[in-house]
This record gives sequence, structure tokens and C-alpha cells, in this order.
Amino acid sequence: MRIVRTVADLRAALAGARAGRIGFVPTMGALHEGHLSLLRAARAENETIVLSIFVNPTQFDEAADLTAYPRTEDRDVELAASAGVDVVFAPDASEMYPAGFATTVSVSGRIAETLEGAHRGRAHFDGVATVVVKLLLAVLPDTAYFGAKDAQQVVVVRRAVADLGIAAKIAVRPTSRDDDGLARSSRNARLSPDERRRAAAIPRALGAIRDAAAAGETDAAALRARGLDVLAGAGIDPEYLAVVDPDTLEPMQVVDRRALVAVAARAGPTRLIDNVEIDPE
Ligand code: PAJ
Repeated sequence: MRIVRTVADLRAALAGARAGRIGFVPTMGALHEGHLSLLRAARAENETIVLSIFVNPTQFDEAADLTAYPRTEDRDVELAASAGVDVVFAPDASEMYPAGFATTVSVSGRIAETLEGAHRGRAHFDGVATVVVKLLLAVLPDTAYFGAKDAQQVVVVRRAVADLGIAAKIAVRPTSRDDDGLARSSRNARLSPDERRRAAAIPRALGAIRDAAAAGETDAAALRARGLDVLAGAGIDPEYLAVVDPDTLEPMQVVDRRALVAVAARAGPTRLIDNVEIDPE
């Protein structure tokens, strides 16, 4: 496994690999089982796999969140080696954002402005779209792998990739969860035992909504109310709990087709997001 820090070295490392398929997993490090599940999917489908580790400053809306973001490169590199990664791309901020940097990929409209965009601000998805496009141009993978946990990120990335004519296929893998149902996240390490117990109400609320939909409830307001009840029982007042079209992210009133139920909530100071897809058919 090679570790490279510049785009030039990355290109050199991949020069001999272009005849086979290249799979790419972009991350901000602090690898957990969710990231490893993406690496396993990439390993199964490609001859060469690239992992990027870059805590992208432009997508953080809170300076404290950026400072507190875990940085565990030595451990990440060990995990990457055992997951069969061929190349780790771990650039400095100055490599990704050279002096004078002035170009931003900005996805406009509802898909970037609703939900996370509304609560974290426009700059968040501009930061995500810009860094993901830069990473895709650096790696030029056949397939890039993303987690369903960040459902809106997937919608925004797909839009940017389609609009800019980037050849990479975007593959999405299911959310990996801990035993209590909580979606795995680098931020979970910040939860106190009590916050962790309360946070487990987030996946329970999504489960209650999914169960109610499976039992025939199609009224989005009623479905939301089920979820809000579960959250309230754990003392959690979400930033949003929304039932939306999975592609356009437009709110749905009647769930008579595939829907995305997305939630963001704080347990103590830690902000968590999660979602589930429901399909009445
Ligand atoms: P990060 O939060 O490190 O996540 C990297 C990838 O892992 C994302 O595609 C994310 O959706 C996926 N992931 C995170 N938790 C997961 C889980 N529990 N199950 C399955 N997949 C999970 O998302 C980012 O980094 C950044 O925004 C990035 C795309 C790297 C751009 O900076």
C-alpha cells in the first residue's frame, strides 16, 4: 500500500492501474465500520482501490466541529492496509486549496438548500461538491463509493457529477449501524453514555416510521408524528424530521411511492444525522 500526499504522486501511483478498474472511497478519516463497508464493496468490484483521507475545512460550518473532528491517521492507515487499499491519498489543505484558490463547485436549488443545507448553511454543500469534484478529478476512478447515511450528500454529488460530465459511476452502500441501531459516525465517539442512550432514539424513531408505513399509514404528517413521539420520549427535539422525495428532496404529503425520511438532531452538543428509505410498494 502506498501513501501519497500530492495529486502528482497520486497520478504517478495510479499510472499503471488504468487498464483495470479503479474504485475510490473518499473519507475524512477516523475510519469506522461504515467506511470499511465501502472499502469492502470497492475491493470486491475493482482491481485497484484508492482511499482518500482529508478533513475538508470548507464543508465545516462550525469552527469548533472542525477543531474537534477526530484525526487518527496512523490507525486509519493500518485499517486501510488490512482492508486491501492500494493507495491512500492524504493531502494537506494547501494541496487541495493552493494559495489563490478561487473556484467553487456550487450546486444550487432545493437539493443543496433544504435539510442539511438549511441548517448548516449554503457553504456546506459547496464545500462538499468542490472537494468531491477535485478528488474525482485527481483519482479519475471508474466508481466512487458513498454511504446512504449521508443521503443528501449523495443527491448533491450525483448532480454535480452529471452536470460537469465527470465519468465516474457513483455507487451507494447501506448505512452501517451499531448494535443499538445508531448509524456509525466518527462523531459518535463524542457522546457521553447518557447522550448515547438518548441518541439511540433516532434510529428507533425512523424504525417506528418505517413500521407505520409498512402497516399502511401513508399520511406523511402522521408518520412524522410517530417519529417525533419516539424522539420526545428520549428528550430529543430534532432540527428536522422530514419526509421527502429521495431524488428531488421535495416534501411529500402522501407516501404513495418511495420516500426518504431524514432526521438531524443533537444529543448534547453532538449533531447527528440519519435516514431511512420507505417504499410502500
Ligand atoms: P465521512 O463522513 O468520512 O464519510 C465518508 C463516506 O463514508 C461517506 O460516503 C459517508 O456517507 C460514508 N459513511 C459514513 N458513515 C457511514 C455509515 N455508518 N454507514 C455507511 N457509510 C457511512 O462524507 C464525508 O466524509 C465527506 O463529506 C466527504 C464525502 C469525504 C467529502 O469531504
